Amino acid sequence: MTSLKPEPKAKRPIESLRSQRWFGAADLRSFGHRSRTLQMGYAYEEFMGKPVVGIINTWSDINPCHAHFRHRVEEVKRGVWQAGGFPIELPAMSLAENFVKPTTMLYRNFLAMEVEELLRSHPVDGAVLLGGCDKTTPATIMGAISMDLPTVFLPAGAMLRGNYAGKVLGSGSDVWKYWAEKQAGRIDDTEWRAMESGIARSFGTCMTMGTASTMTSLAETLGLSLPGSSSIPAPDSAHSRMAAECGRHIVSMIFDDWKPSDILTAASFENALVVHMALAGSTNAMVHLIAMAGRAGIPLTLEDFDRVARDIPVLANLRPSGEWLMEDFYYAGGLPALWAELREHLDLSAKTVTGTLADAVATARNYNPDVIRPFENPISDEVGTAILSGNLAPDGCVMKPSAAEPRLLKHTGPALVFRDYNEMSAMVDRDDLEVTADTVLVLQNAGPVGGPGMPEWGMLPIPKKLLKQGVRDMLRISDARMSGTSYGACILHVSPESHIGGPLAAVRTGDLISVDVEARSIHLHVDDLEIARRLSTFTPPSRDYPRGYNKLFAAHIQQAHLGCDFDFLEGTEKLPEPEIH
Ligand code: FES
Ligand code: MG
Repeated sequence: MTSLKPEPKAKRPIESLRSQRWFGAADLRSFGHRSRTLQMGYAYEEFMGKPVVGIINTWSDINPCHAHFRHRVEEVKRGVWQAGGFPIELPAMSLAENFVKPTTMLYRNFLAMEVEELLRSHPVDGAVLLGGCDKTTPATIMGAISMDLPTVFLPAGAMLRGNYAGKVLGSGSDVWKYWAEKQAGRIDDTEWRAMESGIARSFGTCMTMGTASTMTSLAETLGLSLPGSSSIPAPDSAHSRMAAECGRHIVSMIFDDWKPSDILTAASFENALVVHMALAGSTNAMVHLIAMAGRAGIPLTLEDFDRVARDIPVLANLRPSGEWLMEDFYYAGGLPALWAELREHLDLSAKTVTGTLADAVATARNYNPDVIRPFENPISDEVGTAILSGNLAPDGCVMKPSAAEPRLLKHTGPALVFRDYNEMSAMVDRDDLEVTADTVLVLQNAGPVGGPGMPEWGMLPIPKKLLKQGVRDMLRISDARMSGTSYGACILHVSPESHIGGPLAAVRTGDLISVDVEARSIHLHVDDLEIARRLSTFTPPSRDYPRGYNKLFAAHIQQAHLGCDFDFLEGTEKLPEPEIH
């Protein structure tokens, strides 16, 4: 990795740093700040007159994807010390994707708020953000954008490839695939157990192109990480060296006053869209990128995703759309090698924490053109993302055609409606379920308010009776999200959601639904008057919370096509610095 500096601004004098309001004054309060720092065992020469780096650490004892952050944070500190800074670790909510219920999405904005307020309320001049497990990337970045101090995002890196009986296993994707085989009676309990101990072999994030790798790749493309960093496997020694480099680099960024607002532009978000399409990235990116852009004051809509998707084929041959895993992507040259293949379609003058994308592309090499395909040899004829709209989704919905069976990309079938997740779970495996491979499965009340938090229920299970017949994909429609490691003809993020009276709430079992991906349309064959009549008598299942965070969430969450930020967190207005007395 190179460490080229952006065009240098005049270096800031130390007295101008915000931390010096805490440490540098000659008043009663700063006496307290200094004496309490001495209390922690630091000598004057270790903290006085130095830039303070806040290291946001999303480590916890129950986040396997961030288990190494305990060590990485020390490596970041090492780099900060080396460069003459003073590091302080600030623990933040960990958001382990696979343990937090009902869904980490419920807490993305919570973490974003926490990061902003941690940075705002402490004597911090710049930040290193340690994240990677799905929501932690957008959340920490949203908070840091709003705070707008010099910031480097340190991506957790993916875990090693899974291995079972000599076969390579991919996080999530292979779980869904082999679970279907188990349900169909083709895998026994012993084999299932062997998979369980072979699929997650090290710390680090999911090693398919799921939401974690999608979001860290996009953060790097946006210029917020050291170029090349997001592809490094978590257990690789290069990951430790990258962490120390983040620590050294943030100190120079503080003196250069090189902030997210200097880096993020409409062009950098356009670059992120291009890379998202070439990666066949997670559908979750649509919610997160829109929210991140919103914090930066840059308009971004679902239509932008669809527009870019039409021009950019899928080049990264990574599961769930392709064959390989993140470890292979790193050995093939990593994200800079993909940027190089896309150079005609990227604005290489876009800024990064170290310089421009062009600097990174200049030294990039593609060592494996099967993993990172040249532009002329994409992995699929289908686009990675399509935005559909119609009377069933007036504000749009999202699909990943490259991960669906082609027969379902133009399809009409009768709906089978599940009113909520519990109803679906109770019914879907019944032998008397009236369903065929042509049925369109519909899940209601799983959106931002209805879920709540838009859980990853959008890959509705194929009914057991059809699995036994060999059916492996069906058209499925919901206002939920799905895991970035999922696949299939799943139409997600239907907006507005059913719980607030979107037309999805009007669908009844037996109604015909047509989807035509080529035409980007989704249509419920029920006339407008009848839809209006049904909605007028619709009562959503209760989601009333007497108190607490859920109550705040329900009152302020935005719909999926707007990025699901809280209304009161949106915007670019700077908050006042805290009074120090
Ligand atoms: Fe943490 Fe997938 S569960 S990245
Ligand atoms: Mg996930």
